[in-house]
Amino acid sequence: MTAVPALAAAAACVVALAALVALRHAAMRSTALAGRLAAAQEELAAAQRAIATQERLSSLGMLAAGVAHEINNPMSYVTANLEALTQDLARISPLPRVLSDYVDDILPATLDGVERVNAIVADLRSFSREDPGAMCEFDLNAQVEAALRIANGSLRHRAQVVTQLGRLPPAIGKPQQIAQVLVNLLVNAAQAIPQWGTVTVSTRTHPDEFLVEVRDTGVGMDAETLRRLFTPFFTTKPVGEGTGLGLAVANGIVRSHGGRITVRSTPGAGSVFSVHLPRVPPTARRARPGSPQQAA
Ligand SMILES: Nc1ncnc2c1ncn2[C@@H]1O[C@H](COP(=O)(O)OP(=O)(O)OP(=O)(O)O)[C@@H](O)[C@H]1O
Ligand SMILES: [Mg+2]
Repeated sequence: MTAVPALAAAAACVVALAALVALRHAAMRSTALAGRLAAAQEELAAAQRAIATQERLSSLGMLAAGVAHEINNPMSYVTANLEALTQDLARISPLPRVLSDYVDDILPATLDGVERVNAIVADLRSFSREDPGAMCEFDLNAQVEAALRIANGSLRHRAQVVTQLGRLPPAIGKPQQIAQVLVNLLVNAAQAIPQWGTVTVSTRTHPDEFLVEVRDTGVGMDAETLRRLFTPFFTTKPVGEGTGLGLAVANGIVRSHGGRITVRSTPGAGSVFSVHLPRVPPTARRARPGSPQQAA
C-alpha cells in the first residue's frame, strides 16, 4: 500500500472511531436520560399515590369527625345518667337483691362499656385532628413514664417491661398527644405477645431528633400487615378488640409534629416501632419564640 491510500485509510479509521465514540456518548447520554426519565416517572407516581392517600385520609377524617360529634353528645348524658343512677342506688339501704346485682355488677360493667365507646370517640376526634391544642416544652421521658402507667393494665399480665431512658433536653410539642402515641404502641406491643414476653421502651437523642423505640417479643407481622399498618380501620384483631385506629391516630399525631414512625418486624420474633420526632417541630419553628406554639 502506498503512503497516500494508507493515510486516507487511517484518516477514515479515525473518523469512524470518532463517530463511534460520539455514538457511544450519545447512547450513554440517552441511557442516563432514560434513567432520569424513569426516576422522574417513579417520583410522579409516588406523588400521585401520596395525593390519593391524602385525599382518602382527609375524607375519612371528615367522616370520623362527623361520626365522633354525633356520638359524643348522647354519650355524655348516657355516661352522666349512669353514674348518677349508680350513686343513687348505692345510697339506698337495705337494697333489694335484684337491685344490688345492678349496683355491684351490671352498672359498673355498663359504665366500662360506655368508657370504651368514649375512648373510641376520643380516638376518632384526634384522628380527624379536631382538637387543636397548643405546643409547649415538655419532658419526653416523663410522657413515656405516663404512657407506661396508663398502659400498665394491658402490659402487666403479658410482659416484663424494660425501660432504657436516655438523658434528653426538653422537647417541643403536645405532650398529651405524644403520650397517646406511646400508649397506642405499648398496648399493641402487649396485645402482640401471646403469653409472656418483654416490652422494651427506650429514648435517646440525636442532633436533630428524638427517638423513642417500643420493642416487643410478640408475634411480629407479615409483609401484608406491614404494608397496611397505618391505614385507618385496618385491624387483624377480633371484632370488639381492635378498631384499627390506634396506629392511624399515632401516625397522624407524629406527622403533625413533623416526625415519622418507622417499623421493623420479624414474624414469630417481634417488632420494633421507632418514633422519630424533630427536636423542634416545623410548626413550632414558624411560631414566634417565647409565645405558646400552635400546631398546624
Ligand atoms: N407490635 C405489634 N405486633 C404485631 N402486630 C401489630 C403490632 N402493632 C400493630 N400491629 C398490627 O397492626 C394492626 C393495626 O394496629 P392498630 O393499633 O392501628 O389497630 P388495632 O390495635 O387493631 O386496634 P385499636 O384501634 O384498638 O388500636 C393490628 O391489628 C395488628 O395486626
Ligand atoms: Mg392498637
